[in-house]
Amino acid sequence: MPATTSPVQALFPTLVYRAPLGRGLAPLNRRLRDEIDAMSVDDRAGLRWSAKNYLGGYTSYGSLSKLHQLSSLFGTLEKRLDSHVRRFVRELPYDMRGRDLAMTDCWANVMPAGTVHSLHLHPLSFVSGTYYVDTPPGSAALKLEDPRLSKQMATPPRRANLPAPMKAFVEVPAEAGTVVLFESWLRHEVPPADIEGERVSVSFNYAWSAR
Ligand code: NI
Repeated sequence: MPATTSPVQALFPTLVYRAPLGRGLAPLNRRLRDEIDAMSVDDRAGLRWSAKNYLGGYTSYGSLSKLHQLSSLFGTLEKRLDSHVRRFVRELPYDMRGRDLAMTDCWANVMPAGTVHSLHLHPLSFVSGTYYVDTPPGSAALKLEDPRLSKQMATPPRRANLPAPMKAFVEVPAEAGTVVLFESWLRHEVPPADIEGERVSVSFNYAWSAR
């Protein structure tokens, strides 16, 4: 072993994917925004659910959670997301031979200033993610938690100014036209932000099944 090689190795990486959805997104984002705006007025069940669980904002998570099956526009988005999810899954350590990958849930989120989505995970899914439709300046990032945190009971506080892979929480910027993917067991949250307008996104889950 050369003298310059560190005796320490980093193991068990947590992979997170972030990329532009593709080209020509302005018309798609406009149509998504229009459809989500209409939903946020008409979806009574969703508005009731949001009033209890998503203070100040609107999410269709509790009412219209399979938008890819209800709307051709969201079906189009699903097709575009599929290739990103496949690309992400190829980087993960799982054997996907003879296994299919499909979107199971897809819902819309509208967050004005102050709305939060507290720390959670999607335990029954494989890959989860978000596509950002509209992100006014100052929109909150997606905050990811170090998955080892709940097991650390006797560690000292972390140093300031750590590189991202060593932090307890990492903020992935929310930018319109961008898709972010992670494994569904990874806890995440959206903290409150002081923005003009609304941060609009579409979240989704993918599951695998035997072919
Ligand atoms: Ni989530």
